[in-house]
Amino acid sequence: MSNVYLINHPLVQHKLTLMRRKNASTSTFRTLLSELSNLMAYEVTRDMPLQDIEVETPLETMTGKIIDGKKLVLVSILRAGNGFLDGFLNVVPGARVGHIGLYRDPQTLAPVEYYFKMPQEMEERDIVIVDPMLATGNSAIAAVARLKKLKPKSIKFVCLLTCPEGVAALQKAHPDVAIYTAAIDRQLNEHGYILPGLGDAGDRIFGTK
Ligand code: URA
Repeated sequence: MSNVYLINHPLVQHKLTLMRRKNASTSTFRTLLSELSNLMAYEVTRDMPLQDIEVETPLETMTGKIIDGKKLVLVSILRAGNGFLDGFLNVVPGARVGHIGLYRDPQTLAPVEYYFKMPQEMEERDIVIVDPMLATGNSAIAAVARLKKLKPKSIKFVCLLTCPEGVAALQKAHPDVAIYTAAIDRQLNEHGYILPGLGDAGDRIFGTK
């Protein structure tokens, strides 16, 4: 699988295992997700461009390097993406944030957009889409297609968990989009859930079940 980055740092794997436990409380689940997104953000931002800046230390002036965080847009796919956002914002506090809401049409099963709000000047920006689960890939594919119309400089997709079906679908539709994940699980079930997975991420983040 090219263009897929498996983040297998021991801390990431440890926290992901704790999140999978069905008895993990909403607050534990949310805390772990936030910690994980923090850790994953380091890997996802590894190739961010740096610019030179002059800085005065107490002893002399030097040229240091800084990230232009404002060029980065984190795009949350509602609603579970919101639970994955804060760790990224901790690491890149200057990033802008966009939101995209999609629901599945019960007749056609195609994703339908109900919300879309992005920062200005997207053609100058690098996008990181965040959604904890890449399952069928339908929402991810629709979100990427919609965002590509704004002609951003680049798009990455970050999820906590995916499966071979989701990776294949997103890569087929958008081979240029790098996928970052902490695990590629065994398979999708007939209801579109990842197995063994961790259940419905949105419900587990927001305690709605
Ligand atoms: N969305 C979820 O929240 N969980 C899955 O397993 C698949 C999609």
